Amino acid sequence: MSRRALIQYLELIKQSGIRELYRPPSDKAKLLAELATRYADCQKCPLSAGRIKLVYGEGNPDASIMLIGEGPGEQENLSGRPFVGAAGQLLDKMLAAIDIQRKDIYIANIVKCRPPGNRNPDANERLACMPYLIEQMEIIQPKVLLIMGLVAAQSLLSNSETLGWHRDKTHEFMGIPAYVSYHPAALLRNPNWKRPAWEDLQRFQKDYEAMQ
Ligand code: URA
Repeated sequence: MSRRALIQYLELIKQSGIRELYRPPSDKAKLLAELATRYADCQKCPLSAGRIKLVYGEGNPDASIMLIGEGPGEQENLSGRPFVGAAGQLLDKMLAAIDIQRKDIYIANIVKCRPPGNRNPDANERLACMPYLIEQMEIIQPKVLLIMGLVAAQSLLSNSETLGWHRDKTHEFMGIPAYVSYHPAALLRNPNWKRPAWEDLQRFQKDYEAMQ
């Protein structure tokens, strides 16, 4: 179609009252990569001051499972990749225990830049970053969310309940079933929580398999 014909066609569509055109499914990986580049220099909150690399998220863009952590630590800030430090190594083992490989899921965090000294991200920082996470979910369209730790759970599910309260139930975020368990960094600090974390993961695995 010539440029002139295209303009005519679009003009006719506009005149007929159509305001949005059907957008064919895009290449999700490409879209996610473009967004990661677009936000690399985000200045929406003070966490940008300590940023070496924005940790946008990584994994399978067609993943059924999206795992959500709290925010990048030192290693993640250096590498630009989520969960690559000690907590990430434990996370890989936890996933392997329920037959899930990191490459098959998509991993992102509540905030995409490292909070200084690994403190919890504050309410404004979480809010500033939330549109990026929601946008990722809209692109990936996961079937289920696995939320690691209290900060991520409270941020996503907008409450101030305890971790126990969250772990006991299946939640919903944007219509997607969401499960909560311990953050792997918490398990490194307190190995006694590994048993209840294992029980959470088994419940998640059983429900996830039933969804297939
Ligand atoms: N902890 C998190 O919550 N996310 C990471 O990416 C790394 C550590």
